[in-house]
Amino acid sequence: MNLDPPNVVSIAGVDPSGGAGVLADIKTFSALGAYGCGIVAALTAQNTQAVTGVHTPPPDFLRLQIDTLFADIRIDAVKLGMLGTADIVRTTAERLAHFAAPHVVCDPVMVAKSGDHLLARSAVAMLREALLPVSFMITPNLPEAGVLLEVRAPDTLREMYRCAERLRELLPLSSERWVLLKGGHLPGDELVDLLFDGDRMIELPAHRIESKNTHGTGCTLSSAVAALLPQRAGTLSGVESAVREARSYLLRAIKASGQLRVGHGHGPVHHFHALWGPKNGQ
Ligand SMILES: Nc1ncnc2c1ncn2[C@@H]1O[C@H](COP(=O)(O)OP(=O)(O)OP(=O)(O)O)[C@@H](O)[C@H]1O
Ligand SMILES: [Mg+2]
Repeated sequence: MNLDPPNVVSIAGVDPSGGAGVLADIKTFSALGAYGCGIVAALTAQNTQAVTGVHTPPPDFLRLQIDTLFADIRIDAVKLGMLGTADIVRTTAERLAHFAAPHVVCDPVMVAKSGDHLLARSAVAMLREALLPVSFMITPNLPEAGVLLEVRAPDTLREMYRCAERLRELLPLSSERWVLLKGGHLPGDELVDLLFDGDRMIELPAHRIESKNTHGTGCTLSSAVAALLPQRAGTLSGVESAVREARSYLLRAIKASGQLRVGHGHGPVHHFHALWGPKNGQ
């Protein structure tokens, strides 16, 4: 039993349907043995089908949330999700640098599964300049990798290799930093994520699971990594095993998603598949 659970905070948007954003992140932390905290960087009006509105807090209030939390609670890892605007990105980066926050996992959320845009174009440069320097790991999907690198989104494994290498160059070169390039948007039945630290390229293959319930897969994966990194830190291949475990948790959560009946669009994954069992809750 883990007697000293890590404290992990999500700084992200709220998706009221609970499939993505801060609510999904907290479920993931809880399922994986971490104590979950949440800081709201954006409110959305959203269901499993569409995002119908976004409301961004004043950056000063975001700053107050971060400062107040960090003043009291030892934070062992941070998951960054939808940040929305350049001001919110800048404020988040500045406060994380101030607190020297460990294990910052930056999911550079730009577009929702429904196709709605979640990050202002003007915020991309700020993300590159201010947020990547404080990130321990970035977890872009293929279109986000294209935007960050200002190239066409990769759609083959060979192109993914090249992108992962170039993404690593956007992170500080002198210390341990990781790229997790997600292949969920690859065509075909086999999908591969790439994990790269500037030295070793690790292929993480999976069979595509046929499911409509993929709302929040990206949020869930990055949160799972943030929950597990502090629990695996200090062990040999700690980062690699945290990412492998996070992916197998996500794959089980996608497989079990059919047990839930949530909405008419892309439904959520089943974060508590291991706790509820196959029969309960049906
Ligand atoms: N149908 C699927 N079957 C198995 N694994 C999947 C499937 N879809 C996505 N994944 C995995 O889920 C993770 C998230 O990948 P994806 O590329 O979908 O991220 P994303 O686009 O950021 O997701 P989101 O739309 O939730 O933000 C990756 O590890 C990817 O390999
Ligand atoms: Mg995503």
